[in-house]
Amino acid sequence: MSKSNPLSAAAAAAAAPAALSDLQKAKASFLNSELSSSYGYQGWLEQHWWAEVGARFGPGQHYLDYTGAGQFTTSQLAAAFQELSTTGLGNPHSNNPSSAAATREVAAARALVLAHFNASAEEYHVIYTKGATEGLKMVHAKSDVHNQHFVLLDAAAYAATHALDMSAVQPDFLTVSFYKLFGYPSGLGALLVRKQAAQRLRKVYFGGGSVSYCTAEDAWHVLSPAPAGYEDGTLGSLNIACLKHGFSQLAALGGMQAVSAHVESLRQWTYSQLLQLCHSNGQPLVRLFGRHAEGPRQQGGIFQFQVLTPEGDRVPGSLVDAAASAAGLHLRSGCNCNPGRCMANLGITPQQERERAAKFHKGPILIVMRPQGSNSSSSSSSSPEAIVRLAEQQQQDAGEPPLEAVPLPLGSVRVSLGAYSTFEDCYALVRLLGGTFTDFEVYQRELAAGMKLVRVMDDAEHAVKLRAAVALAQ
Ligand SMILES: Cc1ncc(COP(=O)(O)O)c(C=O)c1O
Repeated sequence: MSKSNPLSAAAAAAAAPAALSDLQKAKASFLNSELSSSYGYQGWLEQHWWAEVGARFGPGQHYLDYTGAGQFTTSQLAAAFQELSTTGLGNPHSNNPSSAAATREVAAARALVLAHFNASAEEYHVIYTKGATEGLKMVHAKSDVHNQHFVLLDAAAYAATHALDMSAVQPDFLTVSFYKLFGYPSGLGALLVRKQAAQRLRKVYFGGGSVSYCTAEDAWHVLSPAPAGYEDGTLGSLNIACLKHGFSQLAALGGMQAVSAHVESLRQWTYSQLLQLCHSNGQPLVRLFGRHAEGPRQQGGIFQFQVLTPEGDRVPGSLVDAAASAAGLHLRSGCNCNPGRCMANLGITPQQERERAAKFHKGPILIVMRPQGSNSSSSSSSSPEAIVRLAEQQQQDAGEPPLEAVPLPLGSVRVSLGAYSTFEDCYALVRLLGGTFTDFEVYQRELAAGMKLVRVMDDAEHAVKLRAAVALAQ
């Protein structure tokens, strides 16, 4: 093991009680609790984390954005590169030997995907996609004349830290991204489709090996049988060939149950610590969204929150983000991939969001009118002024009062734990929040005037000023 492994260093120091730091004390107490049995894959994380994951981020860095992108291990990457550098793979749609080898890889990986989700090859197709979003786009939303209903499961975030048993859940469609599961490769996902539901997939263009018959003159073609008929162009076969190394890495950890238990041990510790953070006037420092109080079946290792001032006002997410980045914590602010939930959490109405778009957006805007109960959609480019006019027109048409620029508490902070999260990562988060934002001494000293700006300006505009204040405090 590398001498510079900070986890090992902490463990070694823990053996000498006289020199225990706050981190070491907190970790010792965590490891003495019942949570420790599911933490760290029976010692694997302590031993290998630095060489496998930590070293590429560098000392003192804490990756806390696993829902943004999962992480790979160094040995997973080494195995993938070893394979690619010793195997001749061609275009999977031809018949020559290197093509046939690629075709075998593509088929073998479909079987691995099915096995990972415990889905049967008799029931489901695996269609390779660019990612979870592409899978969603392929599924028709409208139910047909018989009023049939279909279940589409977007498991992009869930599957990263949970076992998902398709034989029990039985969705018609399941969409996932592999970079969320094991970091590498990115730009590759899958749509699992129940065979009887395949006719609900939207397919407009074709290319590569996805068509069996067509003419250049007439507008008709016959798609190849599923799944190939639903995959556009040439598959990312080298990436697909590397999927096996990601699945092997998860298996080496003990499978998704082990990942899930590991994340849950850290979620419980972090949740209890966040609840305890408060200002000296007794007001909570963090307003936590989600269903943490209801336990792991309702809430995974994602913390969506706002940092609050002693008066209960929101600290802009961009400030927390800037302070975290400066301290080596990689988290996210904004509304992330779930604007609907985010706005519901923050109490933002559709009308307020229209006003925000109209008043604050700078530069060209692409307006996309989403279909309302139909499959038609249209889009058009427009200037900010046109957006304002459109929003005002909509207000007028709806008989609603004219628009006004309103200050909104948009943007919360998201921390998401994953397969290689460590106790040190969670400790660093709690310390950053408690150390930087308790009582807002810096904030009030440097930015007494700035608080007003916070209430009336968009986050991005004052982030620079606030960042400067954080820098002063360090
Ligand atoms: C629930 C959910 N669905 C879809 C996506 C988008 O996935 P992709 O980037 O693979 O298209 C995300 C991304 O974070 C997500 O969390």
